[in-house]
Amino acid sequence: MKDKKLIFSGIQPTGTFTLGNYIGAVRNWGPLQDEYDCIYCVVDMHAITVRQEPAKLRQNTLNSYALLMACGIDVEKSILFIQSHVKTHAELNWILCCNTQFGELSRMTQFKDKSQRHPDDVNAGLFTYPSLMAADILAYNADLVPVGVDQKQHLELARNIAQRFNQRYGEFFTVPEPYIAEVGAKVMSLQDPTKKMSKSDENPNAVILILDDKDTIIRKCRRAVTDSESEIVYREGKDGINNLMTIYASVTGKNFADIESEFSGKGYGDFKLAVGEAVADHLEPVRTEFARLIKDKAYLKQCYTAGAEKALRYSQRTLSKVYHKIGFVDRV
Ligand code: TRP
Repeated sequence: MKDKKLIFSGIQPTGTFTLGNYIGAVRNWGPLQDEYDCIYCVVDMHAITVRQEPAKLRQNTLNSYALLMACGIDVEKSILFIQSHVKTHAELNWILCCNTQFGELSRMTQFKDKSQRHPDDVNAGLFTYPSLMAADILAYNADLVPVGVDQKQHLELARNIAQRFNQRYGEFFTVPEPYIAEVGAKVMSLQDPTKKMSKSDENPNAVILILDDKDTIIRKCRRAVTDSESEIVYREGKDGINNLMTIYASVTGKNFADIESEFSGKGYGDFKLAVGEAVADHLEPVRTEFARLIKDKAYLKQCYTAGAEKALRYSQRTLSKVYHKIGFVDRV
């Protein structure tokens, strides 16, 4: 490792992705592994900054792990592990907490949002969430971190922490850059096509999850909100149809002109059915592979155990150097 640039990313253990996550980001991760060294981690320690039901957290963490594999993360090429299995993250977090200012953490918009949403549980972990995220990244001296807009402020803070540490103790951490992926198309809610498709939508018909079965996907597409016209064309003001066309284009590789001629003279019903079928067919291999993996607990365990061992070996080297730099007595 290290002739290629290193990408690090943490993924919340939600157990599934939306079609929007998949088209916009996840399906591009597989191909990245040839160009970069990649380390991916399911962040169960970040997850407990909001209340979790233990059995569900465990299940969702395993599901997320298997799902990442099903989506193309290859455990031979990349390091894929579960955050709580690698103790160096918590250990480095403490050091970084002591190099992070109260004021900086107070300014984080995600902290402000989440404390408003859970006023009965504004815990210290929620407050120091960004320094744990910095520890994830800096433990591997990652060069690049793929982030969506919602995580930009946290990455900026990780950069500041790295720079401050380097100033205090001498050049050491790589200051991570955001990795701006070639973004796939943006997928909107099926029920309100002016809003992004989001897993937290209260209306389940608004969201396609990548593990939804074929019938469910077709049903959701059939119920998608469109307009009172009847023409399948990509045009301003036709948000619903534009969204379905975007989805159809992303899963079939066809362009809008092809799609317009394919469906000229046909109705919205036919089009919606075609979109549903195309999406379901496109996701079929992911669903099948996920089902296979999640049944094979022994194999999954072998993968995440090996991943954690590699991650520990790598990050322990960083942590030992950090301990030395800040003046802890060498242990070996
Ligand atoms: N905070 C990120 C999110 O909610 C997850 C995350 C944790 C992460 N550690 C990370 C992302 C390190 C990138 C790098 O999506």
